[in-house]
Amino acid sequence: MQSTLSSKDKTVTNDSFKTEIIAGFFTSPKRITSKFFYDELGSSLFEKITTLPEYYLTRTEISIFERFLPEMAAAIGPKATVVEFGSGSGTKTRMLLGHLLHPRSYIPIDISRETLHRSAMELSIQFPQIEICPIHADYTEEIRLPGLRAADGRTLIFFPGSTIGNFTPPEAESFLRRAASLVGPRGALLIGFDRRKDPRILEAAYNDSEGVTAAFNLNLIRRIDDAFGIHIPAENFKHYAFFNEAKSRIEMHLVSLEDQRFSLDGNEIFFSKDEHVVTEYSYKYTSESFQMLLKAGGFEVERRWTDPKDYFEVCYATLAD
Ligand code: TRP
Repeated sequence: MQSTLSSKDKTVTNDSFKTEIIAGFFTSPKRITSKFFYDELGSSLFEKITTLPEYYLTRTEISIFERFLPEMAAAIGPKATVVEFGSGSGTKTRMLLGHLLHPRSYIPIDISRETLHRSAMELSIQFPQIEICPIHADYTEEIRLPGLRAADGRTLIFFPGSTIGNFTPPEAESFLRRAASLVGPRGALLIGFDRRKDPRILEAAYNDSEGVTAAFNLNLIRRIDDAFGIHIPAENFKHYAFFNEAKSRIEMHLVSLEDQRFSLDGNEIFFSKDEHVVTEYSYKYTSESFQMLLKAGGFEVERRWTDPKDYFEVCYATLAD
């Protein structure tokens, strides 16, 4: 395994966490960047979300992979280099690498050093023949890939989990454009997204009965409390998630339950009772609207696969000429 190639040290340090949190509280309305969900506790709560009965996304996407990975692998071809933004638990990665024909290398890019190295270690044991080059970076910023060998197969960006839905459409488009330029002319994309559907099904997925999603959202307050020592209990806020039909997105908010004031490193922050902070968007696309998004980002859809209920879709796209 190669050592970590970090293009620039722009990952989450406590300092950048604090600076970004404060900046988000000075915008109107206030915002907290969702990448801060994923500390140790947040990551384990997220893993739990993916197994909840109401949260159909993960299991549906996995069922699509189980059924269609042989077709996907055939479309991708041999000797691929797989680049993954946000390596997560690695379940889907293992499925993909296990089906590809003689994959060459795997390049996970993750903001969490621990997650990155744990998954790189596990994968290198399971796939000793694949070169693994972890990159510790914030993939919403500029990154460079280690030299790719021209004679090899495609460079495939693997972006499952409907993570693309957590960007606004303009952000998603510029992310895709950067992804396209990163992988070069023989690049391709295997990407999963959640389809627009009955709002009741969507809303249940983000308001599970066990309250795990609420705990995941409120964990942001705990992190802020930890970093700044403000002694604001998470119970002063409430998790709120709903489907915004006009924007075709689930919105996750934290709602202040009372007037509250605290100081973050000398910056006075005031929350009024019922004030909302947006913590996450999860955009839902139709097959057509997603195809348009990919096109705007420079990709042409080649194949797409869905589940029997049409809840989720996985697209294989290549660079448009
Ligand atoms: N991308 C997935 C989704 O939008 C997973 C996810 C990201 C998520 N942030 C989240 C799930 C916040 C629940 C809450 O559903």
